[in-house]
Amino acid sequence: MAQRNSGSGADELKSQLNIVDVVGRVVPLKRAGSNYKGVCPFHSEKTPSFVVSDQKQIFTCFGCGATGDVIEFTKRYYNLDFIEACEKLGKEYGIEVDFSHSSTNKEKEEYYKINREAAAFFYKAFTEKANPGYSYMKRRGLEDGILKKFGIGYADKEWDSLYKHFKAKGVDEKILLELGLVSKSRDGKYYDKFRNRVMFPIINTSGRVIGFGGRRIDDNDNPKYLNSPENIVFQKKNNLYALNTTKQDIGKEGSAIIVEGYMDVISLYQHGVKNVVASLGTALTDNQAKLIKRYTPAVNLCYDSDTAGINAAIRGIDILVPRGLKVKVFHVTDGKDPDEFAKTHGRDAFMKLVKNAPGAIQYKLDFLKKGLDLNNDEDKLEYIKKASQVLKTLSPVEMDIYVRSLSEELKVSERAIFAEIKENASEGSARPAPVSREEGASAHELSSREANVISAMITNPDLTEMLFENFGIMETAFSRKIGYIMLELFGNNGTFGISDIADRLDPDESIALEKAVSGIKLAGREDEVLEESISKWKLEKLFEKEKNIVSRMDMADESGIDQESIETLTAELIEVQNEINKYGGR
Ligand code: CTP
Ligand code: MN
Repeated sequence: MAQRNSGSGADELKSQLNIVDVVGRVVPLKRAGSNYKGVCPFHSEKTPSFVVSDQKQIFTCFGCGATGDVIEFTKRYYNLDFIEACEKLGKEYGIEVDFSHSSTNKEKEEYYKINREAAAFFYKAFTEKANPGYSYMKRRGLEDGILKKFGIGYADKEWDSLYKHFKAKGVDEKILLELGLVSKSRDGKYYDKFRNRVMFPIINTSGRVIGFGGRRIDDNDNPKYLNSPENIVFQKKNNLYALNTTKQDIGKEGSAIIVEGYMDVISLYQHGVKNVVASLGTALTDNQAKLIKRYTPAVNLCYDSDTAGINAAIRGIDILVPRGLKVKVFHVTDGKDPDEFAKTHGRDAFMKLVKNAPGAIQYKLDFLKKGLDLNNDEDKLEYIKKASQVLKTLSPVEMDIYVRSLSEELKVSERAIFAEIKENASEGSARPAPVSREEGASAHELSSREANVISAMITNPDLTEMLFENFGIMETAFSRKIGYIMLELFGNNGTFGISDIADRLDPDESIALEKAVSGIKLAGREDEVLEESISKWKLEKLFEKEKNIVSRMDMADESGIDQESIETLTAELIEVQNEINKYGGR
């Protein structure tokens, strides 16, 4: 992140590379004025809105808001961290990058090394002689080849086997503590954190061991799963379990199956369902959505069939769909989870569930219908109201399809349902999507904030620069179109007037624009107005984020997720609240 951005290696790289060339190797680009344009690799779109600037050496997608320099592009496109991205670029273009000054990088390497060694230590204990871990996994029906493939290990019953192993090598206790491999008792003694557990190493897509999950063998031990704490090499929210092993299968299959648990992954894999990953027990995060998107455009969510699993699926949809992923959702029809189902019914039965799974919207509608009697008028009305909340987030074409089938199902006219959706839309607020807020019905309306921003830029075109970093402030397709035009005009001519924009809009759009800005008087306060609009917008985003974290915390509480996740969420919450205070919120 920011703290590492100043490495001399990075500046050297940036000065020698041309972003147009780097991006152009993987995204077909066409010249457009002084810029280059292509189809955005970070969200799904048909009309190109991904622009690379030769002059500014940055990319920006006006569809999804992704933006940054050549290193940021490489990070996102190949899902690497900052250092890895620099190293990749350095290697490919034959540029010497020296990060030896970067203590963070050195530190990380040290952590990876220790984790790898711990994994080898656990693996040895699991494979070299009889032990409860191996017997346990055998009892659960797992084959040797699979156990090896996932690097499964065993942490023995002693209090200090691993600690002694590292101590003998002179490894710093502070690091072992941070990695969560050992703990310190009140009287200052170190002891192994994982004892008598089956160990699942968690490995990132660059093949580094970043953490562990340890399953209890004895039912009396708690918790059932013990996971590594968050530290500089392990962030739960940024990783998907087993993706390192299954990414090729996911690519080949053209889709990924996301399950809840370690055992689900391994068991499905053994039964021939290999395009599978686990979200590590927590609610799916936006970073995980971005990560999986790197490998496939389609995701099948298969969480446990209990209430927690259903709630997690609903939340998951709201995370995945706005990222442009094609989502299907299902639960196993027999047994508690995919592991049990695969064991009893095998691959073909599981694949049949995948094939017949409903899409995200249908799943949500089915969910809302539960417990309602559609022959009862009151229930029917309630369902239509709730369904409208879901449908109002759709594109016009999708909306049309669902409204038609809803109308047939409920024997209510399509017009009445559309009216209900429109009514709902004006109530606002309930949109789940953090990314795209496409308008359906009222396509040419600008919010007063958007109108102010646009008006400020028309009055003082130099301010258009601000859009590069804050393009998300344009929240509808219409306002984004205007923003896009302004940036292009500014890029080509250095200035523009409202008529230049109007010329490039459809007649009804230009009427709407002129109407929206006509009453606005900025009286030389363009800078102020713009700045205020941006911080208001940022604040809104932060409040949204806050709300999201709070609801995830509620979910974690309700579904008895481990204490650790709650602590992580609490830390996230505090961070967001600090940000909010910084922007003068509340
Ligand atoms: N989990 C966790 N901490 C817990 C319980 C669960 O981190 N105390 C995570 C683990 O990643 C686990 C997943 O949530 O794999 C699903 O939990 P659960 O359904 O309880 O376990 P299973 O995967 O079904 O494990 P098993 O079959 O071994 O009981
Ligand atoms: Mn299970």
